[in-house]
Amino acid sequence: MQLHFSPSMRSITISSSNGFIKLMKIKVAARHISYRTLFHTILILAFLLPFVFILTAIVTLEGVNKCSSIDCLGRRLGPKLLRRGDDSGKLVSELYNLLNQVNSVEVQDDVKLPDNFTHLVTEMKSNKYDAKEFAVILKQMMERSEKEIKESKFSEVMNKHIAASSIPKSLHCLSLRLTDEYSSNAHARRQLPSPDLLPLLSSTSHHHFILSTDNILAASVVVNSAIQSSSSPEKIVFHVITDKKTYAGMHSWFALNSPSPAIVEVKGVHQFDFLTRDNVPVIEAVESDDGVRGYYHNGNHVSREEFRGNLGISPRVFASKLQARSPKYISVLNHLRIYLPELFPTLEKVVFLDDDIVIQRDLSPLWDVDLGGKVNGAVETCKGEDTWVMSKRFKNYFNFSHPLISKHLDPQECAWAYGMNIFDLKTWRTTNIKQTYHTWLKQNLKSNLTLWRLGTLPPALIAFRGHVHGIDQSWHMLGLGYQNKTNIENVKKAAVIHYNGQSKPWLEIGFGHLRPFWSKYVNYSNDFVKSCHILE
Ligand SMILES: *[C@@H]1O[C@H](CO)[C@@H](O)[C@H](O)[C@H]1NC(C)=O
Ligand SMILES: *[C@@H]1O[C@H](CO)[C@@H](O)[C@H](O)[C@H]1NC(C)=O
Ligand SMILES: *[C@@H]1O[C@H](CO)[C@@H](O)[C@H](O)[C@H]1NC(C)=O
Ligand SMILES: *[C@@H]1O[C@H](CO)[C@@H](O)[C@H](O)[C@H]1NC(C)=O
Ligand SMILES: *[C@@H]1O[C@H](CO)[C@@H](O)[C@H](O)[C@H]1NC(C)=O
Repeated sequence: MQLHFSPSMRSITISSSNGFIKLMKIKVAARHISYRTLFHTILILAFLLPFVFILTAIVTLEGVNKCSSIDCLGRRLGPKLLRRGDDSGKLVSELYNLLNQVNSVEVQDDVKLPDNFTHLVTEMKSNKYDAKEFAVILKQMMERSEKEIKESKFSEVMNKHIAASSIPKSLHCLSLRLTDEYSSNAHARRQLPSPDLLPLLSSTSHHHFILSTDNILAASVVVNSAIQSSSSPEKIVFHVITDKKTYAGMHSWFALNSPSPAIVEVKGVHQFDFLTRDNVPVIEAVESDDGVRGYYHNGNHVSREEFRGNLGISPRVFASKLQARSPKYISVLNHLRIYLPELFPTLEKVVFLDDDIVIQRDLSPLWDVDLGGKVNGAVETCKGEDTWVMSKRFKNYFNFSHPLISKHLDPQECAWAYGMNIFDLKTWRTTNIKQTYHTWLKQNLKSNLTLWRLGTLPPALIAFRGHVHGIDQSWHMLGLGYQNKTNIENVKKAAVIHYNGQSKPWLEIGFGHLRPFWSKYVNYSNDFVKSCHILE
């Protein structure tokens, strides 16, 4: 423990707390102060020390600031506590005992506590407490304040979660206006791509990107950024897959904003013959399972009990728990990626993209990466500078207390990321990845979602085991939606940046300094974008 008195005696700083005993050895340049006064003061401060929050309070403690000498401080805080004479060794051990006793005292909700530290000091001055009472009050004040801090942190997380899961008015507007355009404007309905270009949709000499999303603005950014960053945009073919309600609007956008010379096709999930109940029984099961529906669709209505039950965990973990409960995690759009070989039966190598990414470099070399007979070229997420985003192993995704999980999986196995994956569909078709995925999804349903909670990645982590080829991390930088401290230099260098996490760049809660990397690909001179007041 170190104790530092400022020359003016107006502030006192305490750091580290290696125990009481060292107290006796502290040397302070104590001019004009008697050893005895100093000792008493230190004793009081040390007494306060275990109550962490008091530590910061004490520096600005009014009583301290108003006192111009330690002597004064000692008189103010001391009288009742330290009436025991000079037997310092005995006093220290008594204080120890007191602290231990107090430590096991249950906090009662109905005790009237001082409102703040000033109040406490005032009451002390009027000699209201004896030492034990004082310690109890301090403990309770500390616990109350800790609880308040936690609760307010969680409210913040909740608010953020709700902000993250509701669709901004401007994006809704964009979708509605473009849907409207589809019915009123023949040009918005034109065939995409034009009939003469149709054969290119299955050409194996082109670079095929697949994007599945219901966010038109995000899709436009992904496509724009891919084309502007490409050294051969004429080789790019985009397959944009969306849901039924967004189909018309998405089609209008790309019909009216043709990203020539690249080619774009827009498909609704309802247009894929393959995606029937017979072929995707698991999706059907997931979507209709009552327990699952209740669990996911009520993500925004966390009960008071659940809220309190979660006070013990970190807000960050709670945030990801909430995020995992967003309905989008059980939508067909999200599970779609596991059916790529069937949805695009003629394609061989494709790059699958999430809609919260931006492409900043030519991605053509990805098609030349030797996957060494593997199916999925992905960035592994267990090594890297970033200790939060890049420290993901199987133990972070699965419930290893469950025998099925502990029997089949290794907690230390490295995880990988969705967001930008190069898939060799030809090799994929020779594997049973899809079957494994189905089996485990069913198993998790049967086990009442106790194997894992989070979305589509866990079953994919299992299904792709042994089929993943790690690609260089500079291809795909993750975490721009999670944390503010993202390294800007790394962002500039990455081929693809990924705003995974809540703080999407199209939301108010997006990080301001990270947004320009995304918004530079939004066409703000577009009439629809203008009239819907998209965040600039
Ligand atoms: C501290 O509590 C007292 C008594 O309730 C109150 O009058 C005073 O305004 C409070 N001071 C601060 C800084 O909140
Ligand atoms: C499934 O889990 C939920 C809570 O997550 C619980 O309320 C329900 O009783 C469980 N059902 C079964 C069959 O175990
Ligand atoms: C993990 O699995 C164990 C054993 O089945 C179960 O008791 C526990 O509730 C599971 N934990 C979660 C968070 O689902
Ligand atoms: C994020 O960091 C930037 C610069 O480091 C800072 O200007 C900004 O206020 C921070 N925003 C939040 C929400 O913490
Ligand atoms: C932006 O939109 C305007 C109007 O729709 C269009 O003329 C222009 O070409 C677009 N710019 C880009 C870079 O797509």
